[in-house]
Amino acid sequence: MSKDQVFYLRQNVQLEPLIDHWYAWPHLIPPATAARNITERHLKIMDSYINGPQIHAAAVKNPKLLGGPFIDLGGKRVDEIRALREKIKRDRAHLLELSAAIQSLDVMLRENAKGFSLQPLYQKVPGILRGYVELAYDLNNHPSFRIVEPLLYRSKYYDRSQQSLMLSSITNDDRPFMLSTPRLESGDSLHLRVSFDDSVVDELFRLKTEPKSWEEIREMAQVIPEQEELMRSFLTTEAPPRYEPYTGSGVRWRYFGHACILIESQGASMLFDPVLSYTYDSSISRYTYLDLPESIDYVLITHDHQDHVLMETLLQIRHKVKNIIVPRSGGGQLQDPSLKLILENCGFKNVTEINEMEEIHAGNLHITGLPFFGEHADLDIKSKLAWLVKMGERSLLFAADSCNIEPRLYEHLHGHIGDVDALFLGMECDGAPLTWLYGPLVTQRIERVMDESRRLSGSNYEQGMHIVDCFNCKEAYIYAMGQEPWLNYIMSIKYTDQSRPIMESNRLIQACQSKGIVAERLFGEKEILMENEPVPALCTVG
Ligand SMILES: [Fe+2]
Ligand SMILES: [Fe+2]
Repeated sequence: MSKDQVFYLRQNVQLEPLIDHWYAWPHLIPPATAARNITERHLKIMDSYINGPQIHAAAVKNPKLLGGPFIDLGGKRVDEIRALREKIKRDRAHLLELSAAIQSLDVMLRENAKGFSLQPLYQKVPGILRGYVELAYDLNNHPSFRIVEPLLYRSKYYDRSQQSLMLSSITNDDRPFMLSTPRLESGDSLHLRVSFDDSVVDELFRLKTEPKSWEEIREMAQVIPEQEELMRSFLTTEAPPRYEPYTGSGVRWRYFGHACILIESQGASMLFDPVLSYTYDSSISRYTYLDLPESIDYVLITHDHQDHVLMETLLQIRHKVKNIIVPRSGGGQLQDPSLKLILENCGFKNVTEINEMEEIHAGNLHITGLPFFGEHADLDIKSKLAWLVKMGERSLLFAADSCNIEPRLYEHLHGHIGDVDALFLGMECDGAPLTWLYGPLVTQRIERVMDESRRLSGSNYEQGMHIVDCFNCKEAYIYAMGQEPWLNYIMSIKYTDQSRPIMESNRLIQACQSKGIVAERLFGEKEILMENEPVPALCTVG
């Protein structure tokens, strides 16, 4: 190796951001939701594995139990899971206390807050929460509390030292389900103990396109002698192909899988809900990290579900992103943590919160945040928006998992925004029940039948068709269905032709086509060029 030789990070080097060795999804960042997930999800799953590893090994092979609370380690490595459990109990003792305090606060309010002044109850708030929560009633005397989130992030309850990055080579789409399997160290993974806000993260992923010498890389990543050989295996002297930005006069959009779409128009770029595949051989063609521009003007997030806010992708593109636009949260509700605070505490700059019907203007680009109903199990969650993008005469609506549970909303919206050229709509209408995602935050038993009735479901045929009709869409694309295999570790979805989301979206596509509306369910990759005049889709690939 000559001294002047420079190296790139290989395109198939995978980064898993971890907290306590668990995959860092958004609810593991805010202290309160992290505390609840540690005690009610992580410790319970680890206890269960230690008691019956073979039950887990069998369960992960059962398609009916996909996405369940089972560790995917083939029934092995029980001692390591036991050691991890003890380490978490020791290192995160204060978060275990915080979780218990949240539970006690809920119980105290249920027992004591009966419509009279809440002022005397501040004395009964568990000590460690005092000063971090304000108590309130709704207008019908239902008590609750709000967390002063910015203050809690500044306390010992937000501990960056438990964050780390696991680097390894990825060669296919198979990965253990992120909510259920902790990531253990192994001989082919490099565990870097750096927090997510560390500039090393940016330097490391810049290496995929800007090479450095071995000495620079070794110093930057603090590689110790025992890790040198592994780190070298992640490097290559081969430069990646250069990205060719769109320079036409219209709009080009590209579908990267699920809800991730890149739009380029007249030098501006926007990336929605970034969830990207790495580059490796596969029978399913796809755009990957290689297909991103050098800089991205706007990243837009629709809502705080882990298939739409993927820290793994966001961290790797952070150095390219000029602005991140997110929906504003309700302001302190346990179930609705602030996306702005999550991202800022992970080192993102220029994060802007948008309210319903609020707009951003840049040249002839107009972005509006539209109300997004449903898909959150009827919990009071505000951090969700559909995005209307207008570029010149073109308008595209990214509705993500919006569930049209109230058709009048879209009738009101049409009166305000008019027709929309292209609609992008998720139709995952058989969503998981409330407790699958929010269970650790719930502090009283919820009956199964009640749980089953409150789902994270998107629009069905009738609901979706009403949106298409309401906005007189010329094109309708079904997306965000979790079908791409590189999302299996996030979604755990396996559809058949008889699955309701497939049947309902097929119906919608047929109904649209019979009306002369361009319609399809996106899968894998897709490119559309929208020229200025006059035909909507001049070229399609994929
Ligand atoms: Fe969702
Ligand atoms: Fe989704």
